[in-house]
Amino acid sequence: MRLPQTEVSLALLALAAPAVRAGCSLPSSYKWTSTGPLATPKSGWVSLKDFTHVPYQGKHLVYATDHDTGSSYGSMNFGLFSNWSDMASASQNAMSQAAVAPTLFYFEPKSIWVLAYQWGPTAFSYRTSTDPTNANGWSAAQPLFTGTAEGAPYGPIDQTLIGDSTNMYLFFAGDDGKIYRSSMPIDNFPGNFGTESTVVLSGATNDIFEAVQVYTVTGQSSPQYLMIVESIGSSGDRYFRSYTASSLSGSWSPQATSESAPFAGKANSGATWTPDISHGDLIRSSADQTMPIDPCNLQLLYQGRNGSGSTYDLQPYRPGLLTLVGATGGNNGGGSSSTPTTTATPPATSTPGNGGTVAHWGQCGGSGYSGPTVCESPYTCTYQNPWYSQCL
Ligand SMILES: *[C@@H]1O[C@H](CO)[C@@H](O)[C@H](O)[C@H]1NC(C)=O
Ligand SMILES: *[C@@H]1O[C@H](CO)[C@@H](O)[C@H](O)[C@H]1NC(C)=O
Repeated sequence: MRLPQTEVSLALLALAAPAVRAGCSLPSSYKWTSTGPLATPKSGWVSLKDFTHVPYQGKHLVYATDHDTGSSYGSMNFGLFSNWSDMASASQNAMSQAAVAPTLFYFEPKSIWVLAYQWGPTAFSYRTSTDPTNANGWSAAQPLFTGTAEGAPYGPIDQTLIGDSTNMYLFFAGDDGKIYRSSMPIDNFPGNFGTESTVVLSGATNDIFEAVQVYTVTGQSSPQYLMIVESIGSSGDRYFRSYTASSLSGSWSPQATSESAPFAGKANSGATWTPDISHGDLIRSSADQTMPIDPCNLQLLYQGRNGSGSTYDLQPYRPGLLTLVGATGGNNGGGSSSTPTTTATPPATSTPGNGGTVAHWGQCGGSGYSGPTVCESPYTCTYQNPWYSQCL
């Protein structure tokens, strides 16, 4: 069908609308509702902890640490489930080689799944897979980081990974009042970050304790990143603080950092079954290495506990889910938490002045971008965030 030029433009605008929909902002103060415990450890295990979650084929894929009734940590995944209420009946699959405190994501540039973890052959290790649902389908361990964390009583712990268009970043904690960062060019990943790191946050040990996670906040007019860090409160209860930054290589500003008005904790979680809101993962809008979160649909999969164990390692942790109340600034229609990545199809003819085509992985759109918008065959210009579309 041929349309007059103005109608073509309107049609393109309409097509483009979902890709540039107004985003919500992170709130300045947080308030959540919580589920109760979502699953019970299978026989032989006392706890399920340190959750990492990705949306996978429209379902939830979760990896976690487990602890047995003795003195051993291990790791596991849950069989895929569609609804959080089905987590309780999902299979719990032990990994034959432990991947403690796991971080799971899809590394899009090389079309490979990555599982990073602690206490492997090196300070942090990773394994790769083409089928992340198979708990025992991962490659042999590779070194991810071989350095130390000065002042950390147990060495570097609780890694997380995130990428922008040029670099991959490793952030980690040390139970020592510091958050550390290391980086490498994205073309070198997956690979070893080596031994070097920089301290990006420091404070009291209990304030900047562990379980750091870093995310790209989608739907913003300029880049925004969110860091959450687990803290120990005045009575020993665990809660999360938050920090924001405009660059992954930049500095972090406090956002919600007090125990009385935290990112998530007893003061605002709405959870009645657990004093702790502890190590977990915000629900990402896609599985890729940018670790995207949608502030219109903010949810936190966390570890909580009803009661105590005789030691920290035996605390009876279980998964729970927080949902943010009253997201602001966008179309918070209470929609699905697994908003798909929107694909923006560029016009078939290139706009005068930006001729040429973009190679695989290249930038083809985004706020402030004025280069070519057509991808080399067979690639498609794929919306990643408001300031970056990429030929994939
Ligand atoms: C998820 O489970 C809850 C509780 O059983 C149910 O009310 C809800 O409709 C389910 N949602 C979907 C999308 O199946
Ligand atoms: C918490 O533990 C108590 C005591 O064992 C039990 O009665 C209660 O049902 C538990 N609550 C939840 C939400 O599991």
